[in-house]
Amino acid sequence: LASIEADLSPVQEGMAISVMWRGRPVFLRKRTQAEIEQARSVDLDALPDPESDAARVQTPEWLIVVGVCTHLGCIPLGNKPSDPRGDYGGWFCPCHGSHYDTAGRIRKGPAPSNLVVPPYTFGDGNTVTIG
Ligand code: FES
Repeated sequence: LASIEADLSPVQEGMAISVMWRGRPVFLRKRTQAEIEQARSVDLDALPDPESDAARVQTPEWLIVVGVCTHLGCIPLGNKPSDPRGDYGGWFCPCHGSHYDTAGRIRKGPAPSNLVVPPYTFGDGNTVTIG
């Protein structure tokens, strides 16, 4: 399918769910206020792949990224609060140790670039269309 519609209502603050889009997982994360502030307070010069948080989200509470590590394609951990999330509170790729922050940006480890933001549109109510 070129595009899919996902229901955001089961996603609690501080966690993410994964949906499949074009054979790849897409993470839908509802960020806490602290996670949003963390993502926004970063000095862009300190980032391996500089991108502002505002450029990566349409609304601060929702972070939507393709859940595929940009190093060699493993699926990072961190959707559940009990998962390892790495040193920057986002996701951690256990394959070779890439750490992503709460905007899905690479902060440490071998991955060369940020988690990819797919095209998406919010629908009425609590849905989002990916693709
Ligand atoms: Fe994620 Fe290598 S595939 S760190």
